[in-house]
Amino acid sequence: MLLDLARSVALEAAELLMAGLRRGNLAVDTKTSPTDMVSEMDRAAEQLIVDMLRSARPHDAILGEEGANDAGTSGVRWVVDPIDGTTNYLHGLPGFAVSIAAELHGTTVAGVVADPMHNETFTAVAGGGARRNGEPISVATVDDPSLALVSTGFSYDPERRRRQAAVLVAVLPAVGDLRRMGAASVDLCSVACGRVDAHYERGLQPWDYAAGALVATEAGRHRG
Ligand code: IPD
Ligand code: CA
Repeated sequence: MLLDLARSVALEAAELLMAGLRRGNLAVDTKTSPTDMVSEMDRAAEQLIVDMLRSARPHDAILGEEGANDAGTSGVRWVVDPIDGTTNYLHGLPGFAVSIAAELHGTTVAGVVADPMHNETFTAVAGGGARRNGEPISVATVDDPSLALVSTGFSYDPERRRRQAAVLVAVLPAVGDLRRMGAASVDLCSVACGRVDAHYERGLQPWDYAAGALVATEAGRHRG
């Protein structure tokens, strides 16, 4: 099953990330801006994930945040974020994850978000509900925005951040409270298990949300 493969690959990559944290002294570069960091562990985890997926399913396509871009012939495409929440990871803060989704002919059919600092693995299969560490989860029941705990995230691009700040000014007085936790995939899983009532963010890339969005959508079919 695609989900079983995604889960075992994500857990292996998550272990690698924890080993990197214990070791410390990680080499870091920047990407789109001086605050958009990529470390040797982002690259090593993506390599491990790509190697494991390729060896299990050589005909699938793979898209990864750190550059993996294989065309495939099977109709399955893997969408991979080896570390979502790289800033948290590099600061030793909890709230980062390995995110792996499987698409079949362009539709996400399975997703895993593995958050090793919290020992939580979120999974979903299209039409099959969402789970945390194997237990079914459901979204919260708050419908009134003024009572809602809402999470958001910000781009690395200063111009987009300026617009996001303006949106924040309008949103903040209209909701219960806001959180910026630092990994969109985990934020979507927090919606899925009812820890927050909503997440909004512009400018995310497919690897940030593919798995988490399926987890949240599936959890949304079962309200707590
Ligand atoms: C980022 C995180 C963050 C979100 C950013 C993403 P990265 O991904 O998901 O929460 O606000 O938009 O780029 O760079 O840590 O993989
Ligand atoms: Ca990401």
